[in-house]
Amino acid sequence: MNKPNIAQKKSIPIDVEKNKIYYWCKCGLSKKQPFCDGSHKTTVFKPIKYIPEQNKRVFFCGCKYSLKPPFCDGTHKKI
Ligand code: FES
Repeated sequence: MNKPNIAQKKSIPIDVEKNKIYYWCKCGLSKKQPFCDGSHKTTVFKPIKYIPEQNKRVFFCGCKYSLKPPFCDGTHKKI
């Protein structure tokens, strides 16, 4: 597996908490999208750490092909 699995072709909105540590799933295999559940261990991918600077709603990338991970940049419309 050298390409990430497409978990879903749309963003995943989550209300995040300031200073909480999140690990966004890069491999696309996690059952807890958009976050890592350890499933990447059989792949070349690693999760991306994200710590919000404030409480807010974040649109995480669900397709895993965003050029601005862990955030959705609309790339899912082209894949
Ligand atoms: S489960 Fe996908 S990066 Fe960890």
